[in-house]
Amino acid sequence: MAALSKRQQFLFWIVSATVAIAGLVAILMLEYRPPAGRHAVYVIGIPEEGAALFFGEKQCAICHSVNGRGGRVAPDLGTIHPGTPATAWLTTVLWDHAPGMWRQMRPGTTPQLSQEEMAHILAFLYQAGSADTAGDPDAGQRVFAAKGCAHCHSVRSSGGKLAPDLTRIAASGDSVAWMHAMWNHAQYMIGPVTRELGQWPQFKGNEMNDLVAYASGGGPPRRPASTDENGLRGSAERGWQVFQAKCIQCHSVRGKGGHIGPELGPDHDLPNTPVQFAAVLWNHAPAMLEHAREAKMAAPTLQGDEITDVLRFLASLRYFEPSGSPFLGERVFAERGCARCHGSNAEGTREGPALGAGADAFTTVSLATALWRHGPAMRARAEQLGIPWPSLEATDVGDLISFLNDPARKK
Ligand code: HEC
Ligand code: HEC
Ligand code: HEC
Ligand code: HEC
Repeated sequence: MAALSKRQQFLFWIVSATVAIAGLVAILMLEYRPPAGRHAVYVIGIPEEGAALFFGEKQCAICHSVNGRGGRVAPDLGTIHPGTPATAWLTTVLWDHAPGMWRQMRPGTTPQLSQEEMAHILAFLYQAGSADTAGDPDAGQRVFAAKGCAHCHSVRSSGGKLAPDLTRIAASGDSVAWMHAMWNHAQYMIGPVTRELGQWPQFKGNEMNDLVAYASGGGPPRRPASTDENGLRGSAERGWQVFQAKCIQCHSVRGKGGHIGPELGPDHDLPNTPVQFAAVLWNHAPAMLEHAREAKMAAPTLQGDEITDVLRFLASLRYFEPSGSPFLGERVFAERGCARCHGSNAEGTREGPALGAGADAFTTVSLATALWRHGPAMRARAEQLGIPWPSLEATDVGDLISFLNDPARKK
């Protein structure tokens, strides 16, 4: 080192220091690299694939029907009306009804489902499980009079003569076609109706379903023309196109879009069934059309399958993983009795395995899949121990998943 000049020595130290620091940083970075992540597999199913599994390979349709098609042994799953958040709700329904279902199946014949297949089936049940409840034609006749429709319209020749008789349009029995007619003509009715009745009639609860049942003759509800053979309606993709063409100028979805009307994204409560949805549109028609007039825009009328397409698009926004709290989840885990077998920290006991040892984080779909796969053994163990099948509520699922995925939980 003595052979080096002062300047060379200085450079040498700079270079060594830089190398040392770089090395240290590299070591620290290696050291502090986050542990190999437990990635969440949030599989979003494809309803059409779910329908194929449901009616085909997995044979759910031996026992269940969906909107009238399929077996009669078990409940029609077209009428289960998923709540929000839908994934959690469906998982809960499956969980709570599983023991009753297994009783109907011969041991060992429970169809096996992979996570992906479970995701498809849940997506199918969500989209198909939004049929309108059948209305009551007698109540509908009273609605027809009470809302003032009978002032101007007749149905099967009884009622007013100022406006078209509604029998022809109702006779098709297709409630979606009827909703289209009502919505598309609203712009021409608002003037005469508010003059004649002094107000725009509002529909609440089941009133619109009852009215449709009355107008269409009260036969058994016919499958709308826009429903395919599997009970699926419309297309979310086409609905998004319609929404962009006719609605987004005034309505936003997750903040993107116009602000003349309310945000229609996942946090906004909207019905999932065509008739209930049309009732909401009807109720808001005067304000909506007034704004369209002011903005010099065409009235947002809907043709053909557009109402079902828009509905399916809006419904798809409401299909997501629930969030939750690991603290509440720990409590739910104890209160529902899971801890009895799996341990208070899900660390496992003699009665049940540790949960969460796998590489992937829990999701609603993986929970539903685990239930389906391990449920019969779990139920057998519960019977041995003389404890009831733990029943869940839809709000539990998000909390349970947060608890099971909580990194602080594993030691
Ligand atoms: C052997 C007949 C049978 C088969 C096959 C079957 N289920 Fe079920 N399922 C039932 C019965 C019975 C019930 C009602 C159980 C109860 O409530 O006690 C039920 C209930 C349900 C429920 C809850 C319904 C409600 O109204 O709350 C869902 C969801 C469900 N089954 C989905 C499925 C799926 C998905 C498949 C196919 C992978 C399937 N089932 C296969 C008999 C069956
Ligand atoms: C003040 C009179 C009046 C009242 C009250 C009224 N409508 Fe109308 N309605 C009309 C007129 C006028 C038309 C035709 C509008 C047009 O030219 O498109 C019409 C059209 C319709 C159509 C489309 C008919 C077709 O053949 O395409 C439906 C459906 C309808 N109304 C349902 C209702 C319902 C349901 C109510 C009650 C909530 C109601 N109307 C109340 C005047 C009225
Ligand atoms: C010209 C602007 C405009 C257009 C275009 C428009 N809307 Fe609206 N919409 C409104 C306004 C304003 C309201 C609030 C009305 C009220 O307060 O009664 C509303 C209300 C609604 C509501 C009720 C929301 C609630 O729960 O309060 C729904 C659902 C809705 N619109 C759907 C649609 C759909 C679907 C389309 C496209 C087919 C559409 N709107 C097109 C302005 C519009
Ligand atoms: C009566 C005891 C018992 C109760 C109560 C119980 N389990 Fe289980 N659980 C088991 C057994 C035993 C297995 C393993 C089944 C097998 O081997 O197929 C299991 C398996 C599981 C699995 C699959 C584990 C894996 O390896 O993929 C999950 C997830 C699970 N249970 C969650 C729950 C939840 C959530 C609750 C409460 C709502 C609960 N369990 C209540 C006994 C129980």
